[in-house]
Amino acid sequence: MNILVVGGGGREHAIITALSKSAKVDKLYAAPGNGGISKLAECFPVKATDIDGMLELAKKLQPDYVFVAPDDPLVLGMVDKLNEAGFKTFGPRANAAILEGSKVFSKALMKKYNIPTAGYETFTDAEKAIEYIKAQNSYPAVIKCDGLALGKGVIIAKDFEEAKDAVNSMLLDGKFGASGSEIVVEEFMTGPEVTVLAFTDGKTVKPMISSMDHKRAYDNDEGLNTGGMGTIAPNPCYTDAFKAECMEKIFKPTIAAMQAEGRPFKGCLYFGLMLTPNGARVIEYNCRFGDPETQVVLPLLETDLVDIIEAIWEEKLDALDIKWSEKSCACVVIASGGYPEKYETGKQISGLDENGQSDLAYVYHAGTKLEGGKFLTAGGRVLGVTATGDDLKAALDSAYKAVDTITFEKAHFRKDIGKRALEAL
Ligand code: AMP
Ligand code: GLY
Repeated sequence: MNILVVGGGGREHAIITALSKSAKVDKLYAAPGNGGISKLAECFPVKATDIDGMLELAKKLQPDYVFVAPDDPLVLGMVDKLNEAGFKTFGPRANAAILEGSKVFSKALMKKYNIPTAGYETFTDAEKAIEYIKAQNSYPAVIKCDGLALGKGVIIAKDFEEAKDAVNSMLLDGKFGASGSEIVVEEFMTGPEVTVLAFTDGKTVKPMISSMDHKRAYDNDEGLNTGGMGTIAPNPCYTDAFKAECMEKIFKPTIAAMQAEGRPFKGCLYFGLMLTPNGARVIEYNCRFGDPETQVVLPLLETDLVDIIEAIWEEKLDALDIKWSEKSCACVVIASGGYPEKYETGKQISGLDENGQSDLAYVYHAGTKLEGGKFLTAGGRVLGVTATGDDLKAALDSAYKAVDTITFEKAHFRKDIGKRALEAL
């Protein structure tokens, strides 16, 4: 089987690594891919958001499946276009990817089907939003752009002034473009956060191992929000009781709701959850694998990923028994200094072998390129250094040991990935 993977980050490297282990796979392609991915898959310089370009590439390569990994092409309807042209795919069609593409849609769906989430109101008018926030008089206030905003469209305002600025930046100043032309103002929730990725064929839902992301740039959750600076799996806060509660109150009802709305969701659905004192609540849905959650979840998957892709395409996920390792996994992201704001690229990375790997851990490449046999930095998040272990502490020790041997000019990583999780054990 030949498979084309759309995307070029650490998540895609982890997906391609899992696919490369399948006995069913002959050849892997990636578009655009990156330096590390090029060691496992033939890379083509087509942007992940270039729907027509990707369709042309698929026509040329004739892959058995196209795996669309990032959010933007899914929301833009890349899967629909590929299906219409006769290609089999992994990933939701646009009418289901809207679960991530529009927070107004996903909040309304949860309200309609009684799926637990923060209470909210939506606004297109700044004055009305500000009036509402004033009347609520409850801080912090949570203000979110409706659409995709590279993880930056959520503002937690600590007082009225900050909340007003947030509303104005979205609805009046157009800081987030069309994504911020409608906003959601919602109740602030507290509790540990858990990511649960789930395979679904639109009818059956099979949650994967839980994980915990570390979104802030610096230690002790300080600094700006990033795409994610590290992850661990499983998440110790996600007890068996929460697992059962989420399955009955959130996962199954979400899949059934999308089916009932005529928007069956096929692929990987990302549940961003908060375990509040009043039970588990949905913070957000994403229509795809998380990054860097995938980097710690897929190494624990024991079932062939291709078998899962086929079962989802054929809508026979109920008949497949998916097996997971009992081990733990940890991923530490090494980023360019300055990320998530301005940073430099083109720095030579030391400590990697000719395959971009290390003896000590698995190195998922996020923003790298291979030039003249050397790996250079090419993005904000550069590498996800990942290790498994018999327990979380062993996995973290191995990952950090490897991190100490890999570096580049102005490299930055968090030294406390997994600390909160270890404390929760
Ligand atoms: P999102 O992009 O919706 O996942 O939001 C980004 C981050 O903002 C989440 O991971 C939470 O830490 C935080 N957040 C979002 N919504 C809420 C909420 N209603 N209450 C508290 N924190 C929130
Ligand atoms: N790590 C968060 C996300 O993938 O959205």
